[in-house]
Amino acid sequence: MTPLIEVHDLVRIYQIRRGLFGRPTPVRAVDGVSLSVMPGETLGIVGESGSGKSTLGRMLLGIDDADQGSVRFQGQPMPARHTAEWRALRAKMQLVFQDPLAALDRRVTIAKQIAEPLDIHKLIPREHQGSRVTELMRAVGLLDDQADRYPHELSGGQRQRTVIARALASRPKLLVCDEPVSALDVSIQAQVVNMMRDLQEKNGIAMVFISHDLKVVRNIADRVAVMYLGRIVEEASSDVIFRAPQHPYTKALVSSVPIPGKPLEGRVILQGEPPNPAKRPSGCAFHPRCPLVRDICRSVVPELQGIDEYRSAACHVVAGKTTPVAA
Ligand SMILES: Nc1ncnc2c1ncn2[C@@H]1O[C@H](COP(=O)(O)OP(=O)(O)O)[C@@H](O)[C@H]1O
Ligand SMILES: [Mg+2]
Repeated sequence: MTPLIEVHDLVRIYQIRRGLFGRPTPVRAVDGVSLSVMPGETLGIVGESGSGKSTLGRMLLGIDDADQGSVRFQGQPMPARHTAEWRALRAKMQLVFQDPLAALDRRVTIAKQIAEPLDIHKLIPREHQGSRVTELMRAVGLLDDQADRYPHELSGGQRQRTVIARALASRPKLLVCDEPVSALDVSIQAQVVNMMRDLQEKNGIAMVFISHDLKVVRNIADRVAVMYLGRIVEEASSDVIFRAPQHPYTKALVSSVPIPGKPLEGRVILQGEPPNPAKRPSGCAFHPRCPLVRDICRSVVPELQGIDEYRSAACHVVAGKTTPVAA
């Protein structure tokens, strides 16, 4: 089967100026990422802030240009940004990001905003719009009488539901969700994630679900890619990542997720500074924080490679020495 979206060796370099008169220096925010997502599949992308997740998400949609590498959607190269082909494709791939208030127009009612893509892409005749909007609102758990409300009259969760309904209006094949619940109360996060999972299962939409919070991804992702300073350091099915993480960074992330009924003993606390691409360490970028660091890690960048049939990891130490998946 052809992957819905497939990217190869993506690199994004930002020119960052230090201070007012500093010379711009290139910083690699995404540094050689390859991945693919099958139709209907949900790929979780996790990692601390600054690891390049949002940049990668924007490159998947062609909103941000790659400096190197390729993006293929349904087997075809991504057309250039702002061309007619790209716009047509954008109906099939939608972005949901963290801040629904920024995504919505304060002066326009909920129903009108959800109907917007139907107008833009001329998807259905005007007279059928009303019933389609009602259907979309119900699908995301909004009430019929909220149709004429304005964004500020809704809660944060309801606003994000509105954004999701609008993203679904054009019947996309792919949703890229960048920290979609991070701004919501913890009590609301699970409700919205569950709603998204139900929708995704019902409609067979593929999803790239980006979060700095591993426990949010746990309930929705089929597969998880862990990023550190612009690179994928481990990739496996969600189940395997949580049961038997291999990379020391993944281990630390997983051990910080509380499991109901299980004591937090043996917890790995991440030491050292959070990732900063302007100060990328040599060799394995994680080495200054790694409890297993060896000489080779300080000089040689580890490649992401299959370490067994279940997973890939980029680590000199764990390659060839994996923990069995069965507990
Ligand atoms: N438009 C930009 N200009 C310059 N630097 C950027 C820009 N966007 C992101 N960066 C830098 O790239 C790195 C990765 O950022 P980002 O993709 O937002 O990571 P994440 O979403 O994982 O927090 C960060 O160090 C950030 O400061
Ligand atoms: Mg981000």
